[in-house]
Parts: sequence; C-alpha cells; structure tokens
Amino acid sequence: MGKSSAYAHPNIALIKYWGKSRDHPPNLNIPTNDSVSMTKESINTATSGIDLLTHTTIEFSEQYNEDTGFLKTNDPLIPFNEIQMKRILKVVDALKQSANTYLHFKMISQNKFPTAAGLASSSSAFAALATCTADALNLNLDKIELSKYARLGSGSASRSLHGGFVYWNKGNSHDTSYAEQICACNEFNIAAVIAVIDRGKKEVSSDVGQEAAHSSVFNQIKINESQKQAIEIKKAIQDDDFTTVGKIAEKNCLYMHSVMMTSEPPLFYWEPNTLKVIKTVLNTRRQFFQTYKMIEKGIKQKEKEGIECYFTVDAGPNIHCLCRTEDLDAAQNMIQNIGIPEKNIVRVRQADYGSKIVNEHLF
Ligand code: DP6
Repeated sequence: MGKSSAYAHPNIALIKYWGKSRDHPPNLNIPTNDSVSMTKESINTATSGIDLLTHTTIEFSEQYNEDTGFLKTNDPLIPFNEIQMKRILKVVDALKQSANTYLHFKMISQNKFPTAAGLASSSSAFAALATCTADALNLNLDKIELSKYARLGSGSASRSLHGGFVYWNKGNSHDTSYAEQICACNEFNIAAVIAVIDRGKKEVSSDVGQEAAHSSVFNQIKINESQKQAIEIKKAIQDDDFTTVGKIAEKNCLYMHSVMMTSEPPLFYWEPNTLKVIKTVLNTRRQFFQTYKMIEKGIKQKEKEGIECYFTVDAGPNIHCLCRTEDLDAAQNMIQNIGIPEKNIVRVRQADYGSKIVNEHLF
C-alpha cells in the first residue's frame, strides 16, 4: 500500500448521459439511458495550450491523520472545497472499503485544460482518481470494474477508463452499470475539431442541470430515443459508417439540449458563437452533399466542395465538429473562417488509452 499516479483522457459523448435514474439511490449515478463516447486527446497542444489529460497522484499513509486533496494549477496548490472532497471521497472510500483499510490519504490532481468548461474535466479526473487509488491500495481491478468506481465520482468518468470507443451500459445496480470498449482506437475513422467558445467555468454544473432534466416534458422521449440510438451508433461505429454515426450523434445532442432548454429552470449552455458554428457545420455539410450528388450524376466534374461534418455539444458552450481524419485541416479552416481564433481551436484524435498508471508523481 502506498503511492500511485495515473493519467486519464476525457471523452466526448456521441450519445449523452443526462439525468440519473430515479429508481436507484442518486449517489450511484445510474443513468436513465446507455451512452457512447470517444476517448480523446489533443493534437495541437502548442497552439491551443490545451492538453486533454488529467494527471493524479494519491498516497495512503499512517503519517496522514486526515484526507486532503489539492488541484494543481500554475498558481499554488488549491485545496478542493467541501463539495469536491465529497465527490472524491465517494470514489476513494468505496475502494478503501474493498481494500479493507482505514488509512488516510493525500491527493493532488492536475488538469492540463480548463476545469469545468464543457471539455469534460470530470470524466478524466475521476477516471484517473479511480485508477491510481485502486493501484495504491493494491487492488487488482480490471477496467470494467474500475469504471464502476469512477462512475461514483462522475457518470461520464466511467467511460474514460478505456481508449477508443466506449459503451456505458446503464444497468440497474452498482454492479451492472459499467463501461466497456466498443472498439480500439483508429478502428473507426473519425476525428474532431473543438471550437473553444469560452474557457471559463460553466455557470450551472452538470449535476445541478441533470437534476432538472426530469422537469422537461421531452425528457422521457429523449430517454427512449437515446436508448435506441446507443445501440444503432454502436453498430455504425463497428461498421466504420461515419455518416450514420454523425447523423445520430448530432440528433442526440439536439435531444439533450432540447431537454436542457425546456427544464425548470431552463438551461442554455450555448453562446451566440456556438450557434454560429452549428450553422456553419450545417451549411458546409449541405454544400458537400450537393456537390457529391452533382458529381455522381455527372453534372459536375470538379473536386468535392465542403466537407462531411457533424456537431455535438456537451454541457457548455464549446462545440465539437466531427469529421473524418483526412478532413481535419478543412474543418479547422471552416471554423477559423468564421472568426474563431486559432488559439481557441483544439484538434482532437482518438486516445489509445483511457487511463493508465504512470511513474511520474506530483509530490
Ligand atoms: C453533457 O458526467 O459531468 O457531458 O455525473 O454529475 O458528474 P456527473 O455528470 P457528468 O455529465 C456529463 C454530461 C455530458 C454528457 C456525457 O458526457 O454523457
């Protein structure tokens, strides 16, 4: 028993988790529908200053007489507040119980990208935490088992244990609600460009927003549709069918935001620039399919115009444009052309691992 460190990447949901099941204790974070995601890493860290990675170190020792946790930023260490510590303890205490230990801990975590700004910081944070905690406690747990513990801290974190594409089975108990890999990195050709509209902390946290989901008249429809879409998109990913994946992911995002906007109180995570990017994606795609049809009919001989791209937005204003890997440059240009500066654009590829143990410790 001792010290361990882990890295974890965040994920972008293609089928969203938004709302906990009311049939189970809320602390278990059992969702209302299955969800699907891609674990992601940034390519252009140098220009964006954003590295989609969390690094966490935890140490259990008799020298500690209380549990402490800190966020490492460029400034001095910031102690986690009471609410944050409560979430951390949900994961750590559950693992401590499995290891049958009462030792206290010190933990330091560093996000190499803005925390709580819709870039899914909680997903990588709790995946890293579950991974290094289990290791420090000498628990030999596989990724599926670890995903259950990560879920206790944050639902979406359950999916960040694995690389590539991931399916979170909603389940109906702590033991049956877990995430598993659909396919490994690069078995399905898709990439993304994120337009970072706002690097600040979001005004309404996911857990507060998710509480309100049940008040939307569209919520049950969204739950039913998402469940079907999760199964359809899984098959499309396995078939390398980008068009079907893009269409379903975009629809699912709009279902979730329709629920958010019609909840009580209403929740609008979009900013004017979010909508500007959405319209640009739709126009660029329309142009792509129009030219494509004309080339097919022999009306036009020239190169294709536009690109096939789709959008998805999590609980924040930042927007992911999904495209094929070979269209990344074109997708970046499309966003820069509407006035989003290069430093606010993050090019994203699939991460080959979700979380992993590393030798580098933060203290
Ligand atoms: C919109 O996992 O952040 O990103 O369980 O309260 O921590 P908590 O919620 P969280 O919610 C994620 C919401 C989402 C969709 C998704 O990632 O599936």
